[in-house]
Amino acid sequence: MSPIPFWVADLREKRRGKILGGKILFWPATDSTNRRAREEARRGSPEGMAVIAESQSGGKGRLGRSWSSPAGVNVYLSLVLRPPLPPERIPQLTLLAGVSCARAIGRQTGLDVRLKWPNDIFIGGKKAAGILAEMEGGNSLCQFVILGIGINVNWKTEEMPTDLRDIATSLRAEAGREFDRATLVGETLAELEKDYALFRETGFSERMREEWTRLALGIGNRATLTFQDHQLFGEIRGIDRDGALLFTDSEGNTRRFAAGEVSLRF
Ligand code: BTN
Repeated sequence: MSPIPFWVADLREKRRGKILGGKILFWPATDSTNRRAREEARRGSPEGMAVIAESQSGGKGRLGRSWSSPAGVNVYLSLVLRPPLPPERIPQLTLLAGVSCARAIGRQTGLDVRLKWPNDIFIGGKKAAGILAEMEGGNSLCQFVILGIGINVNWKTEEMPTDLRDIATSLRAEAGREFDRATLVGETLAELEKDYALFRETGFSERMREEWTRLALGIGNRATLTFQDHQLFGEIRGIDRDGALLFTDSEGNTRRFAAGEVSLRF
């Protein structure tokens, strides 16, 4: 492996938590940190192990999309988690991760950071970060979860692929200044560790549901929900106590959705 960049070395120093990032594997370039972390988890790596890369050639997004991952400017991080949870509760963990990340980014940047269900992180109406949780094993309890976090940090708008410029942004593009990735990741891990510890003890709490709701974009707004190749037009109501989306269709029926994709219609 080539030398560790300064910011990753610094992160090892700065990290405050006990579990998350206790061990950090660094790759200058890899296909996907989620894939690498999954490999490590299958070999028995401990809870909290983090995989970080400076660039990804096959960065994965939700719903089979790719995640643009240029070198040296952003955060590509995957964590191995081993929550003793049934598979159907993993979406709650991804909602929680969205809240922890949004809080950390908001605190570091002073920007108005918002969430779009289930866990896209938006700033100024564009996507600045995303979370991809992939689970493995078990009918009753999952074996492990890989929690992948991608944050567009110091990526200049003019360096983004043209097809992304209208829908994606970065912290630098929004704040007009650069951010230290070690501080940002350190803060994200600290927030996530706190929320995750509580979640393991008490589950998806009302407090967490309220915080997600406070940060959420588009509640009460018209939206399109894509679910298993169907499109529904209606209104986002919020999330229920299990973290499922509550959506009222054009006929006035409110239903809950554990999965799907929302596009907001402003
Ligand atoms: C999404 O919003 O669609 C999720 C994006 C998740 C991207 C991150 S970058 C680090 C980790 N490794 C991957 O291949 N994907 C996630």
